[in-house]
Amino acid sequence: MTFLKVIVFSVAVLLVYTGFANVLPQVQSDPPKEEVIEAGSLDMAGMIAYGEKLFSGEGTCTLCHNDLGRAPDLLNLDLAEEFALRLEDPKYTGEKTVEAYIRESMLQPSAYVVAGFGKKGSNDSESPMPVVNAPPIELNEVQMNAIIAFLQDRAGIVPTVPLPSADQAPPADTASASPGDAAADVEPPATTGAEAIDKYFCAACHDLEGSQADTGPDLRGVGQRLGRGGIMEAILLPNATIAQGYEPDIMPQDFAEQMQAGELLLIVDYLMALEN
Ligand code: HEC
Ligand code: HEC
Repeated sequence: MTFLKVIVFSVAVLLVYTGFANVLPQVQSDPPKEEVIEAGSLDMAGMIAYGEKLFSGEGTCTLCHNDLGRAPDLLNLDLAEEFALRLEDPKYTGEKTVEAYIRESMLQPSAYVVAGFGKKGSNDSESPMPVVNAPPIELNEVQMNAIIAFLQDRAGIVPTVPLPSADQAPPADTASASPGDAAADVEPPATTGAEAIDKYFCAACHDLEGSQADTGPDLRGVGQRLGRGGIMEAILLPNATIAQGYEPDIMPQDFAEQMQAGELLLIVDYLMALEN
């Protein structure tokens, strides 16, 4: 697109969202059909399938693990080879099994950082990956095991994780989130700014709600810097303007399709109110 077209498009989008958001009926979709997964009923094939859903959906792993170069592209790499290299690397000091390696990657991302993927300026000593059993991702034990089973299966290994027992708490969120079908589609609309920030996992990349993530810029004082229109543009057309020192294509490009107008406005209010 030419620069002018981008501007015209941005303005049109902003008008739609600012102007019409208030007059459009706030369409409430029917409550999503929940696919309830009974923890006790999952066999290993079910665990692998559940792990695959989580990886691209609610686990938000593909926000970073994709083909954009921000993190190892776990869905396309030869995982048998990659994991074998990690276990041989003297820098990896954990138990030498693929299960233990993946678990450590999720629970203590900075214990071993894949070369070239560390936080800027940390010389690969600190990982930008958030811990997955704490907010904003917050996976439970069964969910982490399901993801490990999925990645082990992709690496050609028979999964070694335990199957969930009947008395184990069922997966925290059992709404279906099939690959490509963003988790957001099946969740009801958020009703507060913080809820919307949670729903779209902004805190996985921005230091919000105490996450200390730094894949994206610190948003404190962003209201003074960008104003309401600028914030909307940053969310709906992230590549139109790139924050200084960051690269394009890292922030998800499809919030315009996923968010309801009301949610966008809640997020803008929330960010406008963040102090410097
Ligand atoms: C905010 C970005 C981000 C998110 C979200 C994220 N990761 Fe990562 N992950 C990384 C980066 C960057 C690395 C490479 C640095 C390191 O080793 O920690 C990594 C490394 C890994 C590794 C080791 C890969 C290897 O090649 O050895 C695994 C396994 C992993 N992540 C799994 C996950 C899973 C599972 C999820 C979702 C539950 C997830 N990650 C979510 C950024 C992310
Ligand atoms: C996968 C990581 C990622 C996620 C998830 C993410 N962002 Fe970002 N965001 C970035 C990066 C990287 C930049 C800087 C590059 C750019 O300007 O696009 C950025 C830029 C921004 C900016 C512009 C900041 C400035 O100083 O110019 C705003 C505002 C913003 N994001 C808000 C959000 C909101 C709100 C959400 C959730 C709805 C969100 N982001 C989700 C990575 C992310």
